[in-house]
Amino acid sequence: MIKPPWIRGVRRALLAAGATAALAAGLLTATATTSQAATQGPCDIYAAGGTPCVAAHSTTRALYGTYNGPLYQVKRASDDTTKDIGPLTAGGVADAAQQDSFCANTSCVISVIYDQSGKGNKLTQALKGYWPGPAEGGNDNLANAFEAPITVGGHKAYGVYVAPGTGYRNNNTNGIATGDQPEGMYAIFDGTHYNAGCCFDYGNAETTGNDDGNGTMEAIYFGNSKGWGSGSGPGPWIMADLENGLFSGVNRGFNAGDPTINHRFTTAIVKGGPNHWAIRGGNAQSGGLSTFYDGVRPNAPGYNPMKKQGAIILGIGGDNSNTGQGTFYEGVMTQGYPSTATEDAVQANITAAGYDSGSTSTGSLTPGSRISLKATTSPCCTTHYLRHNDTDTKVVISSITSSSPATDKADATWIVRAGLANTSCLSFESVDKPGQFLRHANYQLYLNTDSGGSSFAKDATFCPTAGNSGVGTSFQSVNFPTKYIRHYNYTAYVASNGGTNAWDNTRAWAQDTSWLTAAPWS
Ligand code: AHR
Repeated sequence: MIKPPWIRGVRRALLAAGATAALAAGLLTATATTSQAATQGPCDIYAAGGTPCVAAHSTTRALYGTYNGPLYQVKRASDDTTKDIGPLTAGGVADAAQQDSFCANTSCVISVIYDQSGKGNKLTQALKGYWPGPAEGGNDNLANAFEAPITVGGHKAYGVYVAPGTGYRNNNTNGIATGDQPEGMYAIFDGTHYNAGCCFDYGNAETTGNDDGNGTMEAIYFGNSKGWGSGSGPGPWIMADLENGLFSGVNRGFNAGDPTINHRFTTAIVKGGPNHWAIRGGNAQSGGLSTFYDGVRPNAPGYNPMKKQGAIILGIGGDNSNTGQGTFYEGVMTQGYPSTATEDAVQANITAAGYDSGSTSTGSLTPGSRISLKATTSPCCTTHYLRHNDTDTKVVISSITSSSPATDKADATWIVRAGLANTSCLSFESVDKPGQFLRHANYQLYLNTDSGGSSFAKDATFCPTAGNSGVGTSFQSVNFPTKYIRHYNYTAYVASNGGTNAWDNTRAWAQDTSWLTAAPWS
């Protein structure tokens, strides 16, 4: 096959760089910031290294320099119709404005993550596996399309926000490694969004949806699931989910060489071939990759030779265990075992892409902004802010001043998100408990982990209106429109102006439901 000149150029660079990984990183960082930055993506680099992508998934950018097809599909709640979202330009960042306008005034989920490799290995809703999905029907949820906003190269884009119960899968793939065949994979995750549940994975899994025994999977795991395996520090760790075990090195359980890694954008790599595998990782915003394990298969029965089946999973374990959480931005799987020089070049491409959390403003009711919400009821409460507790999940108000402890300040700080159930309204994510949102249940406000379902989305969506007292802003519950966020006896509720609950008391209702949007305490 005749390769385009720039692929031959990258191959020459990789060969030249083969002498040392450090040289490769330096050389290829240089190329990534010159004219080739616009014409090559990670999969061009893998192809030039002799290990082409056989799956390439991203909702944020094209992973080939010339890719101009759909990146993902969104489905809106108002009429169940779908729309494909492509890049702004060939090889470029996703056109998030298309999603914004298609999903305006309703909510959207990510219904398909297309495969850019040409192999047709797209990801769609994971169906019930050995483990049942959430209550509604047993299949996994689709990700809310607005829950992971970021920028890439200065352009707005959305990641795939995996709340527990969310999962994507393809059990009928083409070209993915099976048996003991070699493969590589990387993914970019939000290093601050994780949990100990099983299992926030991306990679190779059983085509059956069941646990088919040791060695039947090979996927990147990200989280702090100590039960299956762990590395040094408190986690999260990049580990390999090889089925019935999350491996951080050669031993089942603990391996000191696998460090806690929690960059806001974390590059995670797992690769494996006959009696050889590796874990690598780094900061997707800058710098190179480190190798956390590189050696023989685990010293536990069943993992050598491997019995990979070649399905692809995202956000779940091989048997559809779906209690993990995390955020995925892009990832690929390759045919063949990529060299470290190739991966170092891919990391240079990733850091050059310019991932950023996209929080540009503070103190405004704009998605992405950090705010604190100050009570207005006088004289009791004008130094009080809406905050979550640390001892339970209740949301309350308490006085916060510049000399308050940092934990109290963080508890009183919120990240404004597009409304989970309606994009023209808002949701509020805790700044110190990523993945946990302000929501009502039985008309009381709590901080809870997004369970991914439509009921949670409604309970966590509030529409800003002019303050009921004529001051500031009031926040109307999207599913109980007569009720607004209110403090009553220093506890937070959704309350109507008169009603059956004690907190519906008409006295001071207008003041108690009116809030000032303030600069974030944290
Ligand atoms: O290996 C850890 C998990 O164990 C797998 O993801 C799942 O299939 C099994 O429950």
